Amino acid sequence: MDPLLITLRLLHIFTGVYWAGTIFFFGTFLEPGIRALGPDGGKVMIKFFERGYLTFLPITAFIAVASGTWLLSIASSGFDPAWMGSSVGIMYSTGGLSAILAFAVGLGVMRPAALRIWDISRQLPQAADDAARAALMAQMGRQRARTGIAARIILVLLVIAVAMMAVARYA
Ligand code: HEM
Repeated sequence: MDPLLITLRLLHIFTGVYWAGTIFFFGTFLEPGIRALGPDGGKVMIKFFERGYLTFLPITAFIAVASGTWLLSIASSGFDPAWMGSSVGIMYSTGGLSAILAFAVGLGVMRPAALRIWDISRQLPQAADDAARAALMAQMGRQRARTGIAARIILVLLVIAVAMMAVARYA
């Protein structure tokens, strides 16, 4: 039993399961529920943000991607083209690439939009008048729409990643 492999697999599977599970729950139940609640739903997300959601989830996803890439380099003896071109290699790389794309969309689109929503929610109580409040609410609506679209893209990419991880070794 190789202690490095065991440690990497434990890290990889715990963080991968946590990341994908959180996104599956967010995309299928939480986001539609929050959207249906309107401004009250936004308050739930703000509580998540205050508890570190926007830091914790990217770190978890990063560990899943980094440990996965390390595992891939070990399994393929340093990304040997013959192994990478085999059906097992193609499946792990397709799943890995999907997860990396999901990470990029999360970091590049979803997180900045969520940070903007958090920022707007802190500005709202200080809004000078109804017009300023309405302008902030309109901005928030646009950012919420962006997070909704990004969440759906990430969900699809992670479904592909999980499916590939699940079946690759039997390919
Ligand atoms: C949502 C993200 C991910 C999840 C949920 C996930 C899940 C898993 C699971 C459950 C396994 C065990 C499969 C088995 O033993 O049959 C596994 C293995 C593996 N994953 Fe991932 N994974 C993710 C992302 C990645 C990424 C980004 C890469 C590489 C770029 C990667 C590369 C690998 C490799 C190479 C293995 C085989 C390890 C070995 O048996 O030595 N994974 N993954």
